[in-house]
Amino acid sequence: MKSVYLQTFGCQMNERDSEIVLGQLFRRGYRPADSPESADLLLYNTCSVRDHAEQRVFGRMGHFKHLKAARPGMVIGILGCMAQEHGPDFFRRNPEIDLVCGTGNLAQVPDLVEAIAEDRAPRLATDRLDAPYALEDAGWRRETWRADITIMVGCDHRCTYCIVPYTRGVERSRASADIVAEVKDLERRGYQEVMLLGQNVNSYGKGLGEDTDFAGLLALLQREAPGIGRIRFTTSHPKDAHTRLFTAMRDLPAVCEHLHLPVQSGSDHILRRMKREHTIGWYLEQIEEYRRLVPDGSLTTDAIVGFPGETEEDFEETVRLFERVRFDAAYLFQYSPRPGTPALKLADDVPVPEKARRLQRLLAVQRAIALDRNRSLIGTEVEVLFEGRSRRAEDRYVGRTRQFKRVIAASTEDLSARTRRVRVTGAADETLLGELI
Ligand code: SAH
Ligand code: SF4
Ligand code: F3S
Repeated sequence: MKSVYLQTFGCQMNERDSEIVLGQLFRRGYRPADSPESADLLLYNTCSVRDHAEQRVFGRMGHFKHLKAARPGMVIGILGCMAQEHGPDFFRRNPEIDLVCGTGNLAQVPDLVEAIAEDRAPRLATDRLDAPYALEDAGWRRETWRADITIMVGCDHRCTYCIVPYTRGVERSRASADIVAEVKDLERRGYQEVMLLGQNVNSYGKGLGEDTDFAGLLALLQREAPGIGRIRFTTSHPKDAHTRLFTAMRDLPAVCEHLHLPVQSGSDHILRRMKREHTIGWYLEQIEEYRRLVPDGSLTTDAIVGFPGETEEDFEETVRLFERVRFDAAYLFQYSPRPGTPALKLADDVPVPEKARRLQRLLAVQRAIALDRNRSLIGTEVEVLFEGRSRRAEDRYVGRTRQFKRVIAASTEDLSARTRRVRVTGAADETLLGELI
């Protein structure tokens, strides 16, 4: 029996792709390997979104020569966004690589690997970037109670900094009947939470020839799989997150009260240069509406500091926006120029140390806000779905509220995959402490 070791970089969509690829390989008789060194098949599913993500993979590639020398029969493959982006360059860079497989070709991985094992000739598969979604769930998932479900792939926006449209292709939605069937199957198997994934879940349904939009899909899942207690989704684009979505979040009991709405910058001048297709005024109107309709909802965001042309004043506008909106959490990044993106034409004029300073400043502002917001929950009761034991302490369990707040609580009973009422007794910026009620 052959063994496979697959490591994933990047977003949750990549995690889900990896799960499906592994499932298909297991179905063909592969078993999991304990380490890259002992694997017959070594795969890296890669991310291109920032230079740092790519450097981590390039770092791993430094070992390929050794690995192959020790086990000449091993097959090494690069999958996903970097494969799509760099294609055949990988073979020139590292002749030990046998397979380069882009995001749209992942369904071919098992066949390609078998062909390579047979004739030892390298294979390049990057020609299905915009092809209809073809990954077939082989029924294997990392977890037995929580599941990721890709509902759409690709992106039709063209934010000037972003490489995703070029590594993931145009937007394509999966038929609602297929998604419903997948969720019903999970419900039957006792799953409690599903996370609906897409680069832009709000444009779900575009070009599908169905009436179902994203809010409609949420309602459909609520009706068809009422046993799934929690439905989450990510990511929403501010341009098309509106009342219909917020109303669905209010009215559908399973849909969790958490909205991740990346703002990217607090300056209209920078948003224009980013081609984000929304202004700060629009963003504020949307979240006001969200908070009115979903009063107990949490709000998280992404932002980039040091985008080309970002002045000190632009950056201060971002700080002021953060102070005004008071996000529950934020993923903050320094701008990283990406090959082939429109922003490359703009001078990357914020020096790296200044980008780092702005990042640290915004992180500190956000940390204080998150701490303050979490502290305001002390004394309240929350519903927690527990994931499992805390890595640090045996008798403590970690879970999430519906708002996606991380909670730690002590218990002598195994709380894995259980939902409990918890009273919040303490708070840090990223975690709540609680007691079972
Ligand atoms: N589709 C999602 C997220 C895409 S990538 C959306 O539109 O929100 C996730 C985050 O990475 C982005 O929200 C952005 O904040 C960040 N990001 C993307 N490209 C980047 C770049 N070139 N440099 C720094 N951060 C980037
Ligand atoms: Fe990238 Fe913008 Fe598309 Fe998000 S919406 S994936 S940031 S191009
Ligand atoms: Fe990275 Fe590709 Fe996801 S670039 S963020 S793995 S879509």
